[in-house]
Amino acid sequence: MCGIVGFTGKQNAAPILLEGLKKLEYRGYDSAGIAVAQDGVISVSKVSGRIANLCEKTEDGKTLPGFSGIGHTRWATHGAPTDVNAHPHMSCDGRFSVVHNGIIENYMALREELTANGYTFSSQTDTEVIVHLIEMYYHGDFKEAVMRATSRLTGSYALGVLCADCPGKIIAVREASPLILGIGVGENFFASDVTALVAYTRNALYLDDGEFAELTSESITVYDCTGAVIHKPVSRITWSIEAAEKGGYEHFMLKEIMEQPCAVKTALAPRVHENHVQLDDFSYTAEELRSIRKIVITACGSAYYAGCAGKYAIEKLCHIPVDVQLASELRYGEPQIDSDTLLIVLSQSGETADTIAAMKECQSLGARTLAIVNVVGSTIAKLADHTLYTWAGPEIAVATTKGYTTQLSVLYLFAVYAAHTMELLPEQEYVRLIGELQSIPKKIQQVLDMNTALPQLAKKYNSGHSVFYIGRNTDYAVALEGALKMKEISYIHAEAYAAGELKHGTIALIDEGQSVIALCCNSRIAEKTMNNIVEVKARGAQVLALAVKGNRAVLAQADDVIYIPDLDPLFQAVVEIVPLQLLAYYVAKENGCDIDKPKNLAKSVTVE
Ligand code: G6P
Repeated sequence: MCGIVGFTGKQNAAPILLEGLKKLEYRGYDSAGIAVAQDGVISVSKVSGRIANLCEKTEDGKTLPGFSGIGHTRWATHGAPTDVNAHPHMSCDGRFSVVHNGIIENYMALREELTANGYTFSSQTDTEVIVHLIEMYYHGDFKEAVMRATSRLTGSYALGVLCADCPGKIIAVREASPLILGIGVGENFFASDVTALVAYTRNALYLDDGEFAELTSESITVYDCTGAVIHKPVSRITWSIEAAEKGGYEHFMLKEIMEQPCAVKTALAPRVHENHVQLDDFSYTAEELRSIRKIVITACGSAYYAGCAGKYAIEKLCHIPVDVQLASELRYGEPQIDSDTLLIVLSQSGETADTIAAMKECQSLGARTLAIVNVVGSTIAKLADHTLYTWAGPEIAVATTKGYTTQLSVLYLFAVYAAHTMELLPEQEYVRLIGELQSIPKKIQQVLDMNTALPQLAKKYNSGHSVFYIGRNTDYAVALEGALKMKEISYIHAEAYAAGELKHGTIALIDEGQSVIALCCNSRIAEKTMNNIVEVKARGAQVLALAVKGNRAVLAQADDVIYIPDLDPLFQAVVEIVPLQLLAYYVAKENGCDIDKPKNLAKSVTVE
């Protein structure tokens, strides 16, 4: 999500840190900062906006002399992209400075505790709790203080820590966020991403979760979580810069597909505490929720399809009618909206022009608004009464993947939260649904691991002219997004059809060799779609079915089957979409398309 770098050696750290940060720019960021230690003092410089501004502010690092330092590019998650929220963060006594990549899930509780103990917070970030914890636990032993502080954290973090009392030393810690140590001659480095290291060294140590390291100019000592020294093998970095930017994947889209288990976990985990859903910026009372007569979800593109899929969970659990509307239609419609309407606005970028216009229109009619947005401080986030961020991290590929799955995950959380608050969910069912939600990241990972045949299937179903996606209920909602993915990146006409509608027209288009993707995952309705497979097969279609593991009946009907793990049908869409993202990806690759930058499309559509 964010990028971190660290350096200790025998030359000034700041220019090296700035160069390292420039190499991380491709990941997307909204602010940057560095901290350097010299003569028992830590100096910090940070700015919102570009690294060029930081270079200007520090005269290319000259105003911050010192041989050890840490740096950060921030992509805002907790708190707007301002100078104050930019890293590094300092302890109250100025003795420690921290950069962090990841999310601290228990930061709210820690912030309360630290505030009660007299620590003053200057930012809105989750990160700041770390530096105050280190200060609290410091009694002269830097390593001990970092160990005690990190033992209090839950969530994901790659940290770089400076201590004014220990010039020339930096500590790096890793838990569920990437962190690589670079071994130089008379100098050592750390970074969240090899791209920041390769200009200086290709010898690296990869930390595992729970491990941390002390770096000086002459040595790197790695410890396990108990503080015992461990010896790690030195690895050679062989990636080119270009390959390294994509984490070794050929395209950003594939990288982002693979990041989904982590992205969805980041969206869900901090909001579930001890079998209880807590939505950071949305705390309607039961009364307020019960006064909602109608929910309207509005969005564009994939975000609209996330709304289509999320509708089922909200209606089923909350017993409130949900109307999903394209923002470009809603803005010019005659929407029946008033103060009893909750408008849920979905947007990855938070800047989509039609979505903003629809939102303003509904607000003028009195609607209450909840935004589910990825980009912190974006226009939609600012306009909304309440905002829940998806915390998906920057998405670089134009065709969204983790943007969609995290939006849907947050909609599910909302549904469970609202239903429970309105006392519509018996406690046992509430706990069961939370368990199902928590299993989603693991199940997405299983889909990614399970379906190794997808590149082959993509060849077979790459019919060149058109593909039909059929399904019912939640399967139909997934079909819409699956077909959009295929269109966007492979330029093949793809159409999603509610399977029950086939006989009302579309079936006339099915003849010999037509590719049909049949979604039969929702156990309530899968059998009906399986009957539709028989119908299209009878007309010569070749059928690739998606089904839940264990459904053997589908094998007799479809030509090929992709299995997904079992999950409550209410939440299945978020897992079910993943093989369809991969299918579209491999078809586009097969056809030699420019996958990350499909023709005529923009990542953020800020004009009508
Ligand atoms: C564009 C993008 C899509 C995205 C849509 C809505 O069409 O290519 O991937 O789903 O805009 O964008 P938003 O940022 O509002 O989610």
